[in-house]
Amino acid sequence: MAEAGGANSALMALCRSPELADGGQAVPFDVNYAGQTCRAFAVRFEGRPHAYLNRCTHVAMELDWQPNRVFDNSGQWLLCASHGAAYRPDTGACSGGPCQGGLVKIDLSERDGLVFWHTSYKLKAIEF
Ligand code: FES
Repeated sequence: MAEAGGANSALMALCRSPELADGGQAVPFDVNYAGQTCRAFAVRFEGRPHAYLNRCTHVAMELDWQPNRVFDNSGQWLLCASHGAAYRPDTGACSGGPCQGGLVKIDLSERDGLVFWHTSYKLKAIEF
């Protein structure tokens, strides 16, 4: 495990780069966020990978009712299937519908054909 961004951040392997198609299916992963196990997902948008907790800010529900389908048909917005909250794929900011604030963003980096997520103070790897 490589250290990055200081003593409290580590890089965790998430997936291979080709698994994230632009505007395509999300790749799910699990994190420990503030002491709780949470689902998270990664997507690619305009060439860059982004990841968020899979938790709508309207009601704390997962966005996808069809597994890993988080983009709308246009591939321009992340859409919550429950009541249609829309989020920007690159920032997670609320951009329409009943969302209250933006999605919790998880830092990623990509190199050598692999995508990694970054742990942080609140965001840790799941311990087995
Ligand atoms: S739970 Fe996401 S829009 Fe209501």
